[in-house]
Amino acid sequence: MLMETPWWRDAVVYEIYVRSFADASGDGVGDLPGIRQRLPYLAELGVDAIWLTPFYRSPMADGGYDVADYRDVDPLFGTLSDFDELVAEAHRLGLRVIVDIVPNHSSSAHEWFQAALRGEGRDRYIFQDGGESPPNNWQSTFSGPAWSKTPDGQWYLHLFAPEQPDFNWRNPEVHSEFLDVLRFWLDRGVDGFRIDVAMGLYKAEGLPDTPPEDQAFKAESPIWGRPEVHEVYRDWRKVLDSYEGERMAIGEVWTDSAEDLALYVRPDELHQSFNFAWLEAPWSGPAFKKIIDDTLAAVTAPTWVLSNHDVIRHVTRYGDGLTNSTTGLARARAALLAMLALPGSAYLYQGEELGLPEVKDLPPEARQDPIFARSKGELAGRDGCRVPIPWSGVAEPYGFSPEGTRPWLPQSVEWAALSAERQSNDPGSTLGFYQEALRARRELRGTLPDEIIWLDAPEDALIFSRGPLTCVINCGSEPVRLPPHDRVLIGSAPVEGHLLLPDTAAWLHTPEA
Ligand code: GLC
Repeated sequence: MLMETPWWRDAVVYEIYVRSFADASGDGVGDLPGIRQRLPYLAELGVDAIWLTPFYRSPMADGGYDVADYRDVDPLFGTLSDFDELVAEAHRLGLRVIVDIVPNHSSSAHEWFQAALRGEGRDRYIFQDGGESPPNNWQSTFSGPAWSKTPDGQWYLHLFAPEQPDFNWRNPEVHSEFLDVLRFWLDRGVDGFRIDVAMGLYKAEGLPDTPPEDQAFKAESPIWGRPEVHEVYRDWRKVLDSYEGERMAIGEVWTDSAEDLALYVRPDELHQSFNFAWLEAPWSGPAFKKIIDDTLAAVTAPTWVLSNHDVIRHVTRYGDGLTNSTTGLARARAALLAMLALPGSAYLYQGEELGLPEVKDLPPEARQDPIFARSKGELAGRDGCRVPIPWSGVAEPYGFSPEGTRPWLPQSVEWAALSAERQSNDPGSTLGFYQEALRARRELRGTLPDEIIWLDAPEDALIFSRGPLTCVINCGSEPVRLPPHDRVLIGSAPVEGHLLLPDTAAWLHTPEA
């Protein structure tokens, strides 16, 4: 008997950055009721699941990735019953729900950290004596030292903002607390978890000074990817497996090696891990080919992602940094077809289906990412990919918030033609293209082998096939001759004749021999 493929293996998951998706309450910030109202749009888009970024109680020092209470909804986003209604409605529409979990650090407003500051239970975090200077040379990912001093002279570790103290995972209480948090949300019906900074959690014993190059996200570092972390995921896997309905977890694992990534998805650990290699790669046929080969060689349940709430939107990345570049948009559409043709699952980021570019001209006083303030404005930070979505209308708030409300980040004056309403019912729009591509993928679901076969291609193009599907991507500057086929299933731009233009991709149907 054929084993049924678990839903997550080839799912298309849509990331919702909750603050910026849809504001039902009218305070300028997205919320859970706003998401619920927009679920039909996502069902029509054709995704299988949504991933919600943190909506838990939080002072919002890092947009909710600073969690003060892991078992409650922040009033900014709604209530627990709003959450339950959202899950029920998503399930009714056939959409699974993945929620974020943030185990590396809490908010400094968390009751455990507040108790620690009073001298109670400090062992749940990483406190050290250090005198005048910090206990070691570790730097925060958000700039500046990774240590802050408490009024009584001890230092605590925060690999991100000072408002995000790192937990001490060597304390069994931390371990059992998170098992309980997982159960709390699983009992409420979530289908999976996205694990924030999944390669964090444990730090090398003795917290040694570390050369700067080894402080970056990489496979072997005293700060990231410690071997002990895998025990945590083995325990989490047991909890997930004890529930009905194929509950899953995907790790946010930043590393420099596909082999290291593979460790997180061993059969008794996480189901998936993000594969950021493509998102970090330039627009280049050979670079894409190497990433595809390395990924498929290393992991059996691959994932693909082009954008998320932490990186420059790929329309802008591929357009050599030019906002609104038509080249960037053409390449972004082509990259989508490539990603959707590969075995495994694909993660989309809200707004990419509208072809949104990065907003690069946010005024300094509007910027809220702690990276901007901590680097004293040297680094722009991530606000430019987090600008609220344009749903309708020709000016701010573009249907994101009720008329008259200013969204928490200013929207671009150039977005009138990009709103979801304007693009709907226009098959030539980026939204129409995404709908068509997702429909084409669904039609092929379950019919394609997991292996891909490379066909001969010019150096800056990729041509691979999976059974009757052949995908051609032209990253070069000359047209590419299409291989034999009986019809074009979809193109990222119109395909005429037997040549594929630069910055274009197409799916071809080839009758099987
Ligand atoms: C992850 C999140 C990012 C956050 C950081 C700290 O990388 O994706 O948005 O700032 O973790 O929690």
